[in-house]
Amino acid sequence: MMLTLILSLLLTTLSTLAEAAQTPLHSTQDSNASRHLHLTAVVSAPSPPHHAKFECWEMHNPFISYPTIGSSLSLANISNLTLVTLPPRSKEPLHHPPHPMFFILLSGTSHVRLPADPQGDGLWIKEGSIIVANDMEGIGHWTDYPGDGGAVALQAPFEGGIVPEHRVVSDGICDDDTVGDGRG
Ligand SMILES: *[C@@H]1O[C@H](CO)[C@@H](O)[C@H](O)[C@H]1NC(C)=O
Ligand SMILES: *[C@@H]1O[C@H](CO)[C@@H](O)[C@H](O)[C@H]1NC(C)=O
Ligand SMILES: *[C@@H]1O[C@H](CO)[C@@H](O)[C@H](O)[C@H]1NC(C)=O
Repeated sequence: MMLTLILSLLLTTLSTLAEAAQTPLHSTQDSNASRHLHLTAVVSAPSPPHHAKFECWEMHNPFISYPTIGSSLSLANISNLTLVTLPPRSKEPLHHPPHPMFFILLSGTSHVRLPADPQGDGLWIKEGSIIVANDMEGIGHWTDYPGDGGAVALQAPFEGGIVPEHRVVSDGICDDDTVGDGRG
């Protein structure tokens, strides 16, 4: 629960960063005017060979007003929050995420490429944004950290491997045109 709180606070912070950094966090409004976060997820295709693909997820829990100022959103129960540092211009070989988790890029640049489309654009993860890594089947994905300053990220595994409730909005990465909004 403490980690949920910490993540909520982190999200509030990240949302502020996000606004400064061209809003990598996305949300929508429904007719009840509740705002939901959209996150790009790396998932395994349902049929063999279960190649990794991107989906856009709308997280079930809405943003609510934060008691002081701004908004918060309960993202997930997390266990073993792990900080990772990646050297400049480094490349991870084909791999699965260590656990179903959020990957939160604190600084630097990260580029995810998929075996089904190795020459494709892939996913450029922006500093200050969150993705879901859940391609636990198949052969996984590549992640490159092309920045000269390396990268720093948090891995936030879902407690008990339980993926937080969400709705798949579309195949592919989330549409940047959706206005991100951490405002209260
Ligand atoms: C709006 O809220 C009501 C009551 O909570 C709910 O039944 C309805 O499904 C909501 N509508 C949308 C579009 O989320
Ligand atoms: C976190 O765990 C509690 C207790 O099991 C549960 O009620 C709550 O819905 C969970 N929160 C999220 C965001 O999954
Ligand atoms: C936490 O995760 C790290 C990296 O995946 C692992 O080495 C470590 O054993 C884990 N610790 C616990 C308590 O699960």
